Amino acid sequence: METSFSLSTKTPEETTALGRLVGECCEGGEVFLLRGTLGAGKTCFCQGLARGLGIPENEPVTSPTFTLHCQYFGRLEFNHLDAYRLEGTAGVEGLEELLGAVGAVAAVEWPDFISPQLPSSALSVDIEIANSESRMLVFSASDARAGKTLERIVRTCSQSPRFP
Ligand SMILES: Nc1ncnc2c1ncn2[C@@H]1O[C@H](COP(=O)(O)OP(=O)(O)OP(=O)(O)O)[C@@H](O)[C@H]1O
Ligand SMILES: [Mg+2]
Repeated sequence: METSFSLSTKTPEETTALGRLVGECCEGGEVFLLRGTLGAGKTCFCQGLARGLGIPENEPVTSPTFTLHCQYFGRLEFNHLDAYRLEGTAGVEGLEELLGAVGAVAAVEWPDFISPQLPSSALSVDIEIANSESRMLVFSASDARAGKTLERIVRTCSQSPRFP
């Protein structure tokens, strides 16, 4: 079972394209925890993830920093959350249900601000700024179920001419 996988992107478009590939690997029930400093590329990745989940190209996918939660419907339901403004709070009622929704995919930016409410099965995506336009993305699986998703992601990336 794969537990960790990393690759780098050289432009925002590449990070979005990687997010799309990851979205295409989803079957429903996946939870992605996106970590990285301000401007690392978490939202950029999620914009691609949404497209890979079949959210129509003409539907804007915006940062949920101020709204906390954005919901989209494509091939799969997509719940995009940003907990940045929840630092120091007790969390949000109903979050566990949202993160455990059957047939839906969730992505959470700044997950450590709501750590008691996170599910035990999740895929972490840690994004590090290497330099102005280059990012290192490290994927890691918290359990065997997330590991299966990671295996699909690794296989799909290795078959892609863009991320061999
Ligand atoms: N390789 C890259 N991948 C992703 N973003 C990049 C890359 N190179 C430069 N950027 C720039 O970095 C910024 C990433 O912004 P984004 O909103 O995705 O960050 P974020 O991690 O969601 O930040 P926040 O914590 O504020 O929500 C954008 O301005 C984007 O153009
Ligand atoms: Mg963001």
